[in-house]
Amino acid sequence: MACPKTDQLDPDRIKANLKTKRVGAKIVVYSCTSSTNDIAAEYAKNRKNDGLAIFAEEQTTGRGRAGTKWHSGRADSILCSIVLNDSKLNPELLSLTCAVAVAEAIGKAGGCEAKIKWPNDIILNGKKVAGILLESTPRFRGVDNVIPAKAGIHNDRRAYIIGIGINCHQKEDSFPPELRPIATSIDIESHSICDRVSLAKRVLTSIDHWLEVAEKNSKKVTDQWRKLSIQLSHRVKLIYNGQEFTGNCIGIDPEKGLILQLDTGGVRMFDAAHTTIFK
Ligand code: BTN
Repeated sequence: MACPKTDQLDPDRIKANLKTKRVGAKIVVYSCTSSTNDIAAEYAKNRKNDGLAIFAEEQTTGRGRAGTKWHSGRADSILCSIVLNDSKLNPELLSLTCAVAVAEAIGKAGGCEAKIKWPNDIILNGKKVAGILLESTPRFRGVDNVIPAKAGIHNDRRAYIIGIGINCHQKEDSFPPELRPIATSIDIESHSICDRVSLAKRVLTSIDHWLEVAEKNSKKVTDQWRKLSIQLSHRVKLIYNGQEFTGNCIGIDPEKGLILQLDTGGVRMFDAAHTTIFK
C-alpha cells in the first residue's frame, strides 16, 4: 500500500507538540538501517542519549524475540528503538510496562482494544500487530563516556533498548505465507489508513507515561497488564527449555513470569527468557 505523503516519518513532525518528559527527548529517523536496536546500542554508549528514539522507514536485518527475523516492507511500519540509559525497573517489569504502553497507543490508533500476549506481543482481533524486543547493552559512564578505571564503579550498569515493531500499512499478502494466519496490521483491522506520525507520537507519549507510572507504582502496570492479557484464565501451551507444557494460566509475576496450573499437576512459573508460547 503506497503510504500517503503526510505519513512519512520525520523527526520534526514527530517532535511537534510532543509533551513527553523523557522519551523522545531526541528523535532520529533513518531512511534505511540494519536494525534500529543496533543503532540504539551505539547511541546508548553516550549517557546524554537517554530517551533518544530512533525510527527507520526500512530495516535490512530487523530482528524479533528468540532469534526470529522481523519482517517489514519500506514505510509500512513503525520501527523504533528507544534508549534508556538508566532504569529503576527490572527487565521483566520494564517488558510488561512497554507492552501496556504500546497496546494503549495501538488501541487508540486502531479504534479497538489491543490485547497483550505474554510477555509483550500486541494483539488486535486475535492476530499479532506488534512486537517488542527489549535488549540491554553495557553502559558507558564517567567523564567523556570513558568507563571508570576502578573496577566496581557503575561498570555493571546496563542501558536498555526498547525495540518496537508495529505493522501499520501491511495487507494480508504483505506477510510471508506462514505468518498470514497469525499476523495483521492496523490498516487491516481498522479498515482505514493509519497515520504513522500520529502513531509514533502516541507510542512515545504512552511509553513516557507508563515508565513514570511503573517507577512510582508498579502495581498499576501489572494490574493493567492483567486486564489486557489474552492468556490470564485461559489455556496456554508453551515450550520451556525445549520441553512442552500445557495448563491454565492462573497468574503473572512481574519478576518471575507466567504462572501455569499444569495439566500434569502442580503450579509452575515460566520466565520470558526461556519460554516460547505456542497458544
Ligand atoms: C518480536 O515480537 O519478536 C519483537 C519484534 C521487535 C521488532 C522491532 S522493529 C524495531 C526494532 N529493531 C529490530 O531489529 N527489532 C525491533
